[in-house]
Amino acid sequence: MKTYDFDEIIERAGTGSVKYDLRKKLFGNDEVIPMWVADMDFRTPDFIVDAVNKRMEDPIFGYTLREDAFYEAVKSWMAKRHGWKIEKKWITFSPGVVSALSMAILAMTKPGDKIVVQPPVYHPFYFVVEDNDRELVRNPLLLDKGRYRMDFDHLKSVIDDRTRMVIIANPHNPGGTVWTEEELKKLGEICVENDLLLISDEIHSDLVAKRFRHTPAASISPEIAQRTVTCVAPSKTFNAAGLATSAVIIPDKELMAKYKRTLNAIHLDFGNIFGNPALVAAYEKGEDWLSQLLDYIGENISHAMDFFEKRIPAITVMEPEASYLLWLDCKKLGLSQEALCEFMVKEAGLGLNDGTMFGKEGEGYMRMNLACPLSVLKKALANLETAVNKLQAG
Ligand SMILES: Cc1ncc(COP(=O)(O)O)c(C=O)c1O
Repeated sequence: MKTYDFDEIIERAGTGSVKYDLRKKLFGNDEVIPMWVADMDFRTPDFIVDAVNKRMEDPIFGYTLREDAFYEAVKSWMAKRHGWKIEKKWITFSPGVVSALSMAILAMTKPGDKIVVQPPVYHPFYFVVEDNDRELVRNPLLLDKGRYRMDFDHLKSVIDDRTRMVIIANPHNPGGTVWTEEELKKLGEICVENDLLLISDEIHSDLVAKRFRHTPAASISPEIAQRTVTCVAPSKTFNAAGLATSAVIIPDKELMAKYKRTLNAIHLDFGNIFGNPALVAAYEKGEDWLSQLLDYIGENISHAMDFFEKRIPAITVMEPEASYLLWLDCKKLGLSQEALCEFMVKEAGLGLNDGTMFGKEGEGYMRMNLACPLSVLKKALANLETAVNKLQAG
């Protein structure tokens, strides 16, 4: 077994990295420790780099088919990681998961249709609904003993005859809630009863902490599967978002035909020739690396949770059941949202996500990305402790 080094510091500034090279524009300076957009500061694993290099040795980068290996890799990953048996004919393509959400909306609903999202939620969920001229319906999550849960009664109350679709992040972002089988079953049943489509964005599903288990929404029952579009990708898991290669799983033949018509209409089906072998390598060879990554992230999360509890008790942290994004409740600092954002940049030297990006329910919150070497995390936490102490003393 190879041991991977997640402590390595890799200079990313100047590489066109969104996380680093947008700092000046977003935070007003390029010195902040960037702990915002959800990509990791860890090296993309060697088996992916090797797969891309191998493809590069063939000197013609012309139009290229997605080979059987792509579909087999998605099928076997879903079976071995998530216990979900899928068929090749259920699998199709999207460059990104957000583009898949948008294509599903274009393909399966019409302008003016209502689409439900559950805030606070990953902000592009709002854009894909509203920018495609569909009507956004909000079913806010409930905060229950430090964990989010879905509000099924409110959901039922907002559904009417113009409602067509529910979009969920499974697991959820922000907060990292791993929806249980029971929760997903209830949600799926509401979709069946009301003839709604369910779009399940499962991009964070491989990053579920080892003590939890991810449930693919469509694996719950054939009835739910027939109305569900599931979006997955190796991008978040293996730090390969720039390769723009995702998979979309649609068991229902008619929904699949609609999706493919839109995919073809936008002419996006070819994808990119490096993303295909990268996905195959990730799903064929990635288990050991992923296991070590989950351990490393788990330790970063424990370290941060412990630090907040003992040293910065004014900030309460929601324990993430999946992924590496810490949802920080900063309300006790007593700052307005604007002042909170400014405090994080100017006093703590941190580039975090403003909680209200995820909806008004994110007021008082910030989101912190912990997918960095522990030494960087320690520095960030120390900065924050000093800044909070100064604030509270002042
Ligand atoms: C829930 C969720 N969906 C989708 C994405 C991004 O997907 P993509 O870059 O493939 O469009 C993210 C990235 O943070 C995310 O958190």
